[in-house]
Amino acid sequence: MTPPTGTGIVTSMMDADGTTADRTTQGRGTGTGHMRTTDDTLSAPAYATADSPNEDARAADVDLRHHGDREATPGLVDLAVNVRGSAPPAWLTERIAESLTRLAAYPDPTAARAAVAARHRRPVDEVLLTAGAAEAFVLLARALTPRHTVVVHPQFTEPEAALRAAGHTVRRVLLTEREGFGLDPARIPEEADLVVIGNPTNPTSVLHSAETLAALARPGRVLVVDEAFADTVPGEPESLAERRDLTGLVVVRSLTKTWALAGLRIGYLLAPSDLVRRCVEAQPLWSVSTPALVAAEACSGPDALARASASAVTLATDRAFLVERLRAIPGVRLPVEPRASFVLAHVEDGLKVRELLRERGFAVRRADTFPGLGPDWLRIAVRDRATTTAFTAALEGVLTT
Ligand SMILES: Cc1ncc(COP(=O)(O)O)c(C=O)c1O
Repeated sequence: MTPPTGTGIVTSMMDADGTTADRTTQGRGTGTGHMRTTDDTLSAPAYATADSPNEDARAADVDLRHHGDREATPGLVDLAVNVRGSAPPAWLTERIAESLTRLAAYPDPTAARAAVAARHRRPVDEVLLTAGAAEAFVLLARALTPRHTVVVHPQFTEPEAALRAAGHTVRRVLLTEREGFGLDPARIPEEADLVVIGNPTNPTSVLHSAETLAALARPGRVLVVDEAFADTVPGEPESLAERRDLTGLVVVRSLTKTWALAGLRIGYLLAPSDLVRRCVEAQPLWSVSTPALVAAEACSGPDALARASASAVTLATDRAFLVERLRAIPGVRLPVEPRASFVLAHVEDGLKVRELLRERGFAVRRADTFPGLGPDWLRIAVRDRATTTAFTAALEGVLTT
């Protein structure tokens, strides 16, 4: 088995099919992340472009552990983190607060598990509560023994980081702007026995069709669909959460975004019961706290679902406003029609633009740490109209002065 990458150096290879594979070698690492070591690293463009979709295969690697929270420093208006709202709603905070009287007891996931199972019309043994979606990726990486792992990028980088940390070799399939960051299922190598993809995808905000994703499932393969942002899409039309007919399907969900619970850590995975059992074995005992379990139960009931649904509709309106404002700014390009709670935008000299925005009081997420993207991409969270108006004025000022 390949050793964990924290102490190793990653070399990358581009295969004939346009995918890339990163392999670790032991003993020469910096201990801080991943480095490419091939000679052509130095001469290759550092990111995929419309004209060279898979150049990333030879590019310097990225910090997979960089996330928006590092950019949303105090004092800045936060458009870098994808959590919606600055606090959970009062009704939810009250439910969580009530649970604090029970902190002396060890957590019991029974009620939360039943609530999540009912919400997705699945048997209880196909649900596992986790400390955020992030823990689900770690459990899967520990529990599975894939031989050909494919992660579809650009996407949230923790699944790949968790897989590498568990010693797995990861091959990347890079979606490109030219394809509208959409997926042709034929891009996934047939031999892949573990495939990870996000829907809707962070950071591209692309919503893949359920049909496209379902086409990836097959016997002998585990298909992990990260649906952390599924509830940002009104009606969740492309969610696979209720699909029990697809062999090897794992759906990962998060409750930290819509409900502003990032600090509480709560999410879950839905999978065939044998796979859930394997993940349970990999999970530290009592990993999900009582308040987090109470939140999961509360957020899975009919009232909460109705609120989430209404909030997705408001979000769509706020997003349309942001998109309209961004499109009106010369030099801003939006590659796709965004479908989630964030927008991916292209600007020339993106890193500089990001710095100048910070000087004007706004934090946006750099997107060059997502494999397949480069320094000229920025991810911008959808916020209310007043924030968007102020932000887009600042961006226009940066780009036109
Ligand atoms: C696409 C995606 N999946 C999963 C997560 C992890 O979410 P959680 O806070 O539930 O661990 C994130 C967090 O940013 C994300 O963007």
